[in-house]
Formats: sequence, C-alpha cells, structure tokens
Amino acid sequence: MSLMNEIYYKSRRQKLLSSLEEGVIILTSAPAKTRSNDTQYPYRQNSDFYYMCGFQEDNSLLVMVKTKEVVKSMMFVEGYDEEHALWNGSRLGVEKAKERFDVDEVHDIHDYPTLITDILRDHVALYIDLFDDPPWLEQAKKSAKELLSTRGVKRHIQAIYDVTHLIRSQRLIKSDIEIEAIKKAIELTAKAHHEAMKVSKAGMYEYELQAKMSYVFLSNGASAEAYGAIVAGGNNANTLHYIDNRDILREGDLVLIDAACEWELYASDITRTFPVNGKFTDAQRDVYQKVLDVQLRVIEAMKPGVKRDWLQQYSEELLCQALIDLGILSGECKTLLESKAHKKYAPHGIGHWMGLDVHDPCPYVDDAGESLSFIEGMVMTIEPGIYIRADDENVAEKYRGIGIRIEDDILITSEGCENLSAMIVKSVEEIEKIMLGRSL
Ligand code: GLY
Ligand code: MN
Ligand code: MN
Repeated sequence: MSLMNEIYYKSRRQKLLSSLEEGVIILTSAPAKTRSNDTQYPYRQNSDFYYMCGFQEDNSLLVMVKTKEVVKSMMFVEGYDEEHALWNGSRLGVEKAKERFDVDEVHDIHDYPTLITDILRDHVALYIDLFDDPPWLEQAKKSAKELLSTRGVKRHIQAIYDVTHLIRSQRLIKSDIEIEAIKKAIELTAKAHHEAMKVSKAGMYEYELQAKMSYVFLSNGASAEAYGAIVAGGNNANTLHYIDNRDILREGDLVLIDAACEWELYASDITRTFPVNGKFTDAQRDVYQKVLDVQLRVIEAMKPGVKRDWLQQYSEELLCQALIDLGILSGECKTLLESKAHKKYAPHGIGHWMGLDVHDPCPYVDDAGESLSFIEGMVMTIEPGIYIRADDENVAEKYRGIGIRIEDDILITSEGCENLSAMIVKSVEEIEKIMLGRSL
C-alpha cells in the first residue's frame, strides 16, 4: 500500500500553478536507460515529474496550463500495448490513467505532437526543465515556432523558463507523508547497518558486507538502493567515492560503510565507520571520537533560522580544531581555516538536502544569492569526516590509513531538529557492544 495518494500530487500541482501568473508547464518522465546492448537499468523516474504526479512509467508527460480563465492538468501516457505487456509488463494505458489520476485530461502520448500545438496557442510563457533536452521539449519549441506563422494566433511564446527551480523550492520543505517515507527508508537502512556490524570480521570481502546490506534492503521491500554503496576497508575509506568494494577486510582496520536505501523513491543516506574486528584501537578511537563530537555539536546547532552557510563554517571550525587536538595540524585555528589547511583532511561539505534524490537538488541560496535559513520540514544530512591517507608522512604513523565519516539524516522541526537516524548505533561503546555479541 503506497503512502502517497492523488491528494498529495494534486495539491503540489496547485501550489506550483499558484506561483505562476500564466503559462504552460511541461514535465517529462525519465527515459528508460540501456545498460549494455539490449539490457536496461532498472527504471528510475525523474524526481520532479514524480513529485508532481507519482507516475512511474517512461514515455509519459505532465502538462499544466494556466490562463486567467482556465487552470488544468493533463497527462500523456503510452496506450496499452499487447506486445509491450508480453515482454515488459503492462502499461497503465489511457483509460486506466483517467481512473487513477485526478487530472483534467489524459491523452495518448502519440497525440502529443498535435495537441501541444493547440495547448501552446495564445500562450506567452513556457516552463520546462531548461537543462534537460528530451524530444518532447524540442517538439514543444517546434510547435511554438509553427504558431508564429499560423493565421489567427494573436499571442506567441516569448519566454522559456526553468520550472525545476520552482518545483525544487517546493521539494525543499517535506510534508508529513514524505517524512514518513524517509523514515521508512531509514528504518531499513538502520537494520542493514546493524547487520553489517554484526557479521563483520577480518578476511571477509567488502562486497560481502555490501551484499548482506542489499539483502536487508531488497528483502524488506525497498524500492532501490539510494546510491552506489561505499564499503571501504582501511585506507580505501580515504577515497571519498570508493565504490569498488572488492578488497579484503583486514584485522585491525576500520571499515567505512556509506550505504542506504530508498522507500517509494525517497532516499536515506547513512554512513557508519566501525572496526572490522569489533574493537577500536586507541588511535582509531581518538579520531573517531573527534568526528563524532563534531557531528553531535553540528546537529545540536540545527534549528529554524540558522543559515546553512553558517553551519558549514561552524563545522569547518570544529573539524579544524579537532585536527589540531589530534596533532594532525599545528598552528592557530583561524590561520589554518584561512589557508584552508583543514581541507586536506576534511575535504567535503558538512551535508546536503535529502529527499526524492539522495542529493536533493533544492536551492541552497535565495534568489539574491544569500544562504537559506533552516525552516521546519527541511531534511539535511550531517556527515563530518576526517581522512588520513596511509602514505601521508606528515601525520603520526598511528593515524595513517584511518578514514572516518559519520552521517545521519536530520529533520528541522519547529523548535530545533530531529535526528531521524538516531537509532543507528554510533558511540564507541554502542558499536563495540553490538559487535561483541556477533556470531563469528
Ligand atoms: N552517499 C553520498 C553522500 O553521502 O553524499
Ligand atoms: Mn550524504
Ligand atoms: Mn552518504
């Protein structure tokens, strides 16, 4: 049973349309993607399109129209096709789409080239995904051009705007039902991380831990993994986008796991770092505790009104001081921050918006370029990390090869914030305890 229903999509469309004076909006589904030769990647819908109608088929469009007199939404879908049903499964088709979607009209996608000319007639503004270029949008431009020389047409498209900016501003604030979907994704991701901690041992391969987690995701109904899992033993954790996951896990090393699933297309994004054998060395614990302290202090500072840029700056100050405390950097924190010396060991940002996309492409600044302040309903990851390469001779030997990131998903509430992934163990004691009880 899906969490979302037509009421949510309809109200999102109404909100989008209410922000325009007039115009035509065209939203396109994601194309199916070939993996190799005649095999395809599992289909993943375009998040902006899905947000506005919840439809999961390719070759479909959502068109919305607003004039002074009329406001309407139309879907264009593939008709039912026996051959497609046999090989790839049944399409919803026009008639069933009329029953399912609370839109004003449903048309066959093959009628789009003719109908779009009628739809654009006498409109001056067209809203599309300006940075995507599917044939549907090309067709709309062609139709708008055709209307320029059509007798009796009085008004013509004068401007094409990016609609994604409007939709993504809307996506920034999550409704209760979206938070429920994110929580569901996190619930399974929590299970998977705990499972990885419970089965980890030296001599296993990184991909074995990945497979244990995938099993938890898929066997519990997750719609997909939210991104390519990172399972990085030892020094591999110092490659930020390590997705090879083919190395052996060694005694005495840490393993960094950045892996999470989607629920009804809503992402989670979680990182935990723990000792392969369940017991931190002194040096690992020192660095781990510093990263954890930074993470806890950053989360503590999150509340409505706090600017995202300020949080970034604050996290850099904390990380820089942590690096000084560990003896990895030396000097004045202020001077080190100015020269960006801390970036060598803490190179990435403190976090990102999360929602229908793991890196939700919602704005970080307002139209004047000023950093946005947190508002109730925003969801951001908080993921500080310290990374010390094995070959870095500037750092004490005991720290070399240690890479640690701790990542949670944080919801801004009316008073402060809620760590939605707080149930995933992360203190040194909790990790050692859960791992002590594992079956070897
Ligand atoms: N998993 C990607 C990230 O943490 O941003
Ligand atoms: Mn992240
Ligand atoms: Mn992550």
